[in-house]
Amino acid sequence: MDLASGFRFPKFFKVALPAATLIALHRMWTERHRLETLVNSKTAALKSSEQTLRAVLNSVNVAIFVHDLDGTILDVNEPMTLMYGVSSEQAKRMTIANDFSSQRNPTDQLPVIWQDVLNGNPRSFEWIARRPLSSEEFEVEVFLRRIPLKDRDVILANVKDVTDRKRVERELMNAKTAAERADQEKTTFMSIASHELRTPITALKVYLQLAQRALTRGDPVDSLTIDRSLEQTDRLVRMIDDLLDVSRIETGALALRQQSVDIAGLVKDVVEVFNHLGLNRKILLEPHLEAEPARAFADPARIEQVLSNLIRNALKYSPENSDIHVRLSIDGKRHEVRISVQDRGIGIPKDRQQNLFTRFYRVPSKAHLGRQGLGLGLYISKRIVKEHGGQMGVLSEEGQGSEFYFTLPLERLPSVR
Ligand SMILES: Nc1ncnc2c1ncn2[C@@H]1O[C@H](COP(=O)(O)OP(=O)(O)O)[C@@H](O)[C@H]1O
Ligand SMILES: [Mg+2]
Repeated sequence: MDLASGFRFPKFFKVALPAATLIALHRMWTERHRLETLVNSKTAALKSSEQTLRAVLNSVNVAIFVHDLDGTILDVNEPMTLMYGVSSEQAKRMTIANDFSSQRNPTDQLPVIWQDVLNGNPRSFEWIARRPLSSEEFEVEVFLRRIPLKDRDVILANVKDVTDRKRVERELMNAKTAAERADQEKTTFMSIASHELRTPITALKVYLQLAQRALTRGDPVDSLTIDRSLEQTDRLVRMIDDLLDVSRIETGALALRQQSVDIAGLVKDVVEVFNHLGLNRKILLEPHLEAEPARAFADPARIEQVLSNLIRNALKYSPENSDIHVRLSIDGKRHEVRISVQDRGIGIPKDRQQNLFTRFYRVPSKAHLGRQGLGLGLYISKRIVKEHGGQMGVLSEEGQGSEFYFTLPLERLPSVR
């Protein structure tokens, strides 16, 4: 249809317009409509691509900050608000340096990095971040880079929370150091142990040679030679037993054979055995306590071992002419029996006391190391006492003597019905 002749104009147009004007108007209207549709569709496309972009930014596992070149925060993604505990509106009023960083970071570092990034060099570094509202700190890895946009450049920061990874790394590091230390300890121990084991064997060999010489001459073997040989054999057996105990402890196989034990009686027996060894030393037992009933559910052989260890140490680390006191007391309130061994010997420096119960430990002083030993007795003893539910400790002054003690829970007698 020809527009000029056939176009019917709406009725409310009272004035008839020339056909050419009508055509122009129509063109304008069509063009405007076309442009409007175009703008709408472009806007929709833009909106949807912005939404896509935002969805992407929000779904990544890192906090993202968009900065102006001067450090003003222009935008952040959702993970940032979760990681730092602020809303995006709050974030935009804050700055990385003042609000999102721990005071523990080196103060001069950030400006240098920022300048570097401004110059176009992307930088990644570790940082201690801070939640501004709770002041809580956490470790992050930051990646900063300058990005040219159409109208201006921005600085983009990617921040990853690495607290968990750092913790695992530290734990691994500690485990490695501990393993290395244990390894070193074992090497040192091996050389001490071989040396210590050799000493009684060398002595044994000398006594056997003496006996052999006497026999060759047709003389009787001196009973002292036999006694000494047996002493050295006992020492050797004790050392080997200690070594076996350590491996039992370390494999969790220190099995106790517990039964109802009269602790006062046991202590008395052990003290008597020592007093009959002809050591020229007196082990004094606090006499009035003997009558106290003190029964514990315990492995008698193991408790004997603990007490013997303490008495042997007291003898070893105190002068020939001094006595040893063994005491037994009952703490009714705590429902436990306490056994202590006190000497007037060389004592232990305060700063060494906490190490005494660790494996292979011997106080590193001339007075202590001059005496033979593997440094296992106290370690084993404390483990045995702990297995029984008791405690072991020491009170000592250097040069004044020591008191080693241990406790055992008293057996609960079945209540009278
Ligand atoms: N009664 C004591 N007086 C002084 N030091 C002691 C005493 N008992 C133990 N010690 C110190 O504790 C260390 C560990 O004792 P222990 O484990 O029995 O090992 P060892 O007797 O083989 O040296 C000893 O080397 C010694 O330095
Ligand atoms: Mg010892």
